[in-house]
Amino acid sequence: MSAAAEPCFRINGLRRLDGVLRVNGAKNAALPCLAASLLSDEPSRLRRVPDIEDVRRFLEILSALGVESEFEENEVVVRPSGVCAGSPPDNLAAALRASFLVMGPLLVRTGQASCGTPGGDVIGARPLDVHLAGFRALGAEVESVGGRTVARAANGLRGATFVLDYPSVLGTENLLLAATLARGRTRLVNAAMEPEIVCLAQMLRRMGARISGAGGHTITIDGVERLGGADQELIPDRIETGSLLIAAAVTRGRACLQGVEPDHLESLLGKLSEIGAVIRREPGQLDIEVGNHTRLVATNLQALPFPGFATDLQAVMTALLTQVEGTSVVHERVFENRMQHLDELRKFGANIIAGGAAPVVIGPTPLSGAVVRGTDIRATAALIVAALAADGPSRIFGVSHLSRGYSDLPGQLQALGADIELARSADTLTN
Ligand code: EPU
Repeated sequence: MSAAAEPCFRINGLRRLDGVLRVNGAKNAALPCLAASLLSDEPSRLRRVPDIEDVRRFLEILSALGVESEFEENEVVVRPSGVCAGSPPDNLAAALRASFLVMGPLLVRTGQASCGTPGGDVIGARPLDVHLAGFRALGAEVESVGGRTVARAANGLRGATFVLDYPSVLGTENLLLAATLARGRTRLVNAAMEPEIVCLAQMLRRMGARISGAGGHTITIDGVERLGGADQELIPDRIETGSLLIAAAVTRGRACLQGVEPDHLESLLGKLSEIGAVIRREPGQLDIEVGNHTRLVATNLQALPFPGFATDLQAVMTALLTQVEGTSVVHERVFENRMQHLDELRKFGANIIAGGAAPVVIGPTPLSGAVVRGTDIRATAALIVAALAADGPSRIFGVSHLSRGYSDLPGQLQALGADIELARSADTLTN
């Protein structure tokens, strides 16, 4: 695509956000729950599914495996018929990291699974050693054949105690999926504790799996013979929720977000309160308010596995920290290359020194409109947030990154009063 024809978001900043919104279901719960549907011959229904590119790609993967699905009005019905086999086409595997989640279900159901290198955001090396060591612990042989991962377990998987080297989110999910139908008891020690794991475990239990401890460090799974279908509502998207709260704060505005789960956002809510935003929480609802004359002050943060500050909100929060008084240090402890938004933030006039894993943000700096490019889902969202606080027009490229993970962030911001639109190709000629 030529640069001139590329879509972008056109934003005129300095509009105060104010309004009420209902957030969508979680991207990172939708993908493992879709993978779970492969564990049964019976249909499963997922509700509150966000209409995002990653979900569309995952449904294409299911289709390539011979599994039909329908996706209408945020509901997906998956209809597996018989044990499906095969592997995701390489181009689809490369489209998203979660493509690798078909490995666990296919391995335990068919005794063999393979997948090309999974893609997704380029934010670090993102190895798969935790997944592979876990499959081996459950009795599989795993090798790399021509760049593809191939796992075999001719005699089926058997339960084992496995200590994850790192509490990988997708690693925990892949092993949880596989262990549901393994023989005997599996204990996943040092498991990821993210709310999306709890949502997946809830769906698996509805399918008949015997799981305890999800949401804690150790998950125990007693394998069963077979699983049925399930009807599962996804949890609200905590990253969408957090992005909208931060967007409201950066414009010194107000937002009332409904259908949310405040308990999933403790770390962010603590930081927002610490810098001076007023947060009100009720079951299922979060309100944020920052007045025109409210003094916002600096803070330090570390992106960590849950319940620490979410790495998926680190870039967006950094954009907000350019607008608070004082010096904030941002440590990224999850991905080694998730700071690509910094150079772009500087183009708005942000004062950020020393790149690498712990940049120092000095604020507040008045931002001016800029032409910038997002390089991954959350970096693009961060640049949108910066543009909301910038004086004058901005253009944000990287639209395809954003649509992988947010159903309609620009539409939601517009509903709250932002001046943001998707610019058509002809418009982009006048940068
Ligand atoms: N890691 C390993 N070995 C492994 C797996 C991971 O060393 O086998 C390392 C990674 O390189 C990284 C760290 O562990 O440094 C964390 O990776 P993790 O496996 O936990 O991440 P993930 O499961 O690949 C999911 C989300 C990401 C989110 C991370 C962390 C999905 C589909 N993706 O990725 O979401 O950032 O957990 O919370 O659930 C996003 O939504 O924008 C996104 C990138």
